[in-house]
Amino acid sequence: MPGKSVSKLIICRDASHLAATAANEFVRLANESVGRAGKFSVALSGGSTPRVAFSLLAASPLVEQVPWNSIHLFWSDERMVPPDDKDSNFRMANEAMISRVAIPAANVHRMRGELDPETAADEYAKELESFFGDGLPRFDLIMLGMGDDGHTASLFPGTEALSETTRSVLSNYVAKLSTHRLTFSSATINNAANVIFLISGPAKVPALKEVIEGELNTSLYPSQLIHPKDGTLEYLVDRAAAAGLEAARSALAQPEAEAPVEIELS
Ligand code: 6PG
Repeated sequence: MPGKSVSKLIICRDASHLAATAANEFVRLANESVGRAGKFSVALSGGSTPRVAFSLLAASPLVEQVPWNSIHLFWSDERMVPPDDKDSNFRMANEAMISRVAIPAANVHRMRGELDPETAADEYAKELESFFGDGLPRFDLIMLGMGDDGHTASLFPGTEALSETTRSVLSNYVAKLSTHRLTFSSATINNAANVIFLISGPAKVPALKEVIEGELNTSLYPSQLIHPKDGTLEYLVDRAAAAGLEAARSALAQPEAEAPVEIELS
């Protein structure tokens, strides 16, 4: 059934409420996928907001609600460092969650940041192919952060990877960081069944406003590239990050609510 695409803005009170909401979404989607298909494929990202969500998933009461045996973890981006480096996205998820839960080692599909960028990207493309089959992978869930500059995964403003339409994963040179990064293409992200952005704090206000309500300028705001073709898109934000959004104005005028406020975006 082609063409199903729903975008929602979900406003949480603060960063910890946001992380709890994300962790609960993970549990809900994992159980739904495992019930339907026997497995749940999810791509993680780096960033400070996901870290808290990962820790919640590794602790009671959520840890008992996740069907860990059937979860397959992948990454949407990685830095060119070994897995024990402090900058490794794998290391962050490993410390916050993986090492604390009963997930089979074979279900953890990390990007090999210790290799040279081209080889690491090719190897990961093969890893994706052996799990998902030919063509672009279709993830059950991709969790993303968004940088203050509007980047997501390692799709940074003005970089070559922004125009990639066929490869699933590639190495991307990021001049402002003087380094390569491994990253999913927007084509892979847009092929997912569910995409969730986790965006928190006042530093995100200008980019989030441009991404959701600004003119289309994907080279400057790569997060604008993300629109699943046949899936759901949720911007999970806190009140601080949402402060500049027209769409959030009436929600923010209300007193802080217990439950997150959901707004459908056109
Ligand atoms: C990375 C991330 C990146 C991150 C954003 C947001 O490896 O740098 O995958 O895309 O998600 O920079 O990070 P924060 O949540 O820390 O703001």
